Amino acid sequence: MNFSMSRRAFAASAALLPIACSKAGKATGDATSEAADQAAAPVPINPLVKQRADPYVLRAEDGWYYMTGSVPEYDRLVLRRSKTVAGLADAEERVLWRHEKTGPMSGFLWAPELHYVDGRWVIYFAAGPSGGGADVFRIRTYAVVCDGQDPMAGKWTVLGELKTPWDSFNLDSTSFHHKGVRYMAWAQREPGIETNSNLYLAPMKDALTPAAKAIRLTVPTLDWEIQQYKVAEGPSVIVRNGKVLMTYSASGTGAVYCMGLLSADADADLMDPHAWTKSQKPVFTTNVATSVYGPGHNSFTVDEKGRDLLVYHGRDYEKIEGDPLLNPDRHARVQRLYFDEKGAPDFGVPVGNGPLPERFISVARPGTYMAHEGSKTVAAKVPLPQTQFRSLDAGDGTVMLSPILLRDHCLVAKPDGSVAIAPIKATGAQPGAEKFRRTDAGGGAVRFATAGEPAKSVAIAPDGLRIDGAKDAASAWKAD
Ligand code: AHR
Repeated sequence: MNFSMSRRAFAASAALLPIACSKAGKATGDATSEAADQAAAPVPINPLVKQRADPYVLRAEDGWYYMTGSVPEYDRLVLRRSKTVAGLADAEERVLWRHEKTGPMSGFLWAPELHYVDGRWVIYFAAGPSGGGADVFRIRTYAVVCDGQDPMAGKWTVLGELKTPWDSFNLDSTSFHHKGVRYMAWAQREPGIETNSNLYLAPMKDALTPAAKAIRLTVPTLDWEIQQYKVAEGPSVIVRNGKVLMTYSASGTGAVYCMGLLSADADADLMDPHAWTKSQKPVFTTNVATSVYGPGHNSFTVDEKGRDLLVYHGRDYEKIEGDPLLNPDRHARVQRLYFDEKGAPDFGVPVGNGPLPERFISVARPGTYMAHEGSKTVAAKVPLPQTQFRSLDAGDGTVMLSPILLRDHCLVAKPDGSVAIAPIKATGAQPGAEKFRRTDAGGGAVRFATAGEPAKSVAIAPDGLRIDGAKDAASAWKAD
């Protein structure tokens, strides 16, 4: 978070914040709802939830996906849940707690996270006093706690303030367990360091009390961390392939906002600052081709098949009138998180609006993907974004395969047996040449038969993709 305008100006304009209607009301939790069949879980469509910044999604042990995030008015803590990721989009949202009438939690409420701590549901969030002379950016971290085991039905009350090393601007706390220890990571302004915020880490002895002196993990110094404001915030942690991975967000909250990565060996002493390595380059940034600007403040979850998902916010336009903090269009988004052959995370690019894309690995040539280089289709091992295709409903049970980097384009079966890429609105080929029927190719693989000639399908060729009658591994693709 960063702030530019004077307190007085901000307090005046804050009163103009749009008053959106949240579908507050009775908690969901219709216990009779059937758990979604993992194999047939609906495909999420981005943006997953509009105007929910700093999105936090938790797949809880009760099988529900819980989601919270910052609302444009920053005046309430909300929670929704669904049995599927896609279902979060229109799940009923409950208001758990509203900012107070006066005092240190009567202004902004930012970036809530739901955690189960010592047998209770707790929501950590950042809050500040209301306007009118008080310092609306006197932001500190607090927690509210639920009086029952159903976070959608219980009563939420203030638990207290997170004890941090200094009485200074602090926000974006996230709690995670590692090797039997519960840690808290958060963003804070440290006296003597001229930045908006740095990242800190401490083991915790209870929901609000560190068990040891916090360590400083990173200070924003790299060019991509200090655009407009010097910011390291929004930490989020997963442990994969022997590494503790901590993503964070940097720079101002407009299109320059992006994500960085700290990592440590899973066997290291996480409280040793030298155990952490910082990526010198951002791992997730604005992408003009997919039209997602300022992606960041992520969380991690898994889909119904247990596959890693990256949850984050991003706008679908670049230019912002006024203070980005007051712009409501940081929408919650989700996409697969892949890992490369060395086990390192491959964040790719923010995939953009529409159904989640997939990538298709050749059964005949493992490690080779259905892909494109510019407007040319290839079968190759190329960067992730060139292998991601979203399936767009073409009616009558067929789909168009649209590359995420070439929005409004799709694959087209040409009469000469080649596979081209053309604008969806002007494929120029025979009617139906852009339509493919996804069929079972056996062994968990799929085949894309051409709508015009069902006996033919997209196959791998020595020099790329071709359309032919192959019914063997050459035309079988593993969807991932
Ligand atoms: O969305 C409000 C604040 O702005 C969040 O706490 C921070 O991560 C973001 O930049």
